Amino acid sequence: MASLALEARERALARYSGFKVGAALKTRTGEIVTGCNIENASYGLTMCAERVAVFKALSEGLSGFEAIVVAADSKRITAPCGPCRQILWEFCGDLVVHMVTPRGRSRTWRLRELLPLPFDGGNL
Ligand code: THU
Repeated sequence: MASLALEARERALARYSGFKVGAALKTRTGEIVTGCNIENASYGLTMCAERVAVFKALSEGLSGFEAIVVAADSKRITAPCGPCRQILWEFCGDLVVHMVTPRGRSRTWRLRELLPLPFDGGNL
């Protein structure tokens, strides 16, 4: 999983920020779908690696997600941004979230810890 996320990171289209991110999302039945960040000259249209992976997986008809690995290279380990946490919660629930760096550092959280008191369909 970590190596797939790191490989996906190499495919990042991050010409504006230079900050490459890769993701690998795994279902409970073992399928793995990767994503990388894709930037745009109209910066706000940029899509994060995590959301690319989730949307790819959903569009392939996959569901029942168990874990995601997010790969980035920064001093402080990179956790999913706020909008990605919301999207992951909506479609993956209390996912295991691993964060890794090319230098072999890693940390693991549950999404529930990263998004306490989430807003979701249960509120509506
Ligand atoms: N980025 C991600 O792909 N995932 C995150 O969780 C944080 C940020 C991307 C978006 C943008 O292309 C670059 O990193 C800098 O924000």
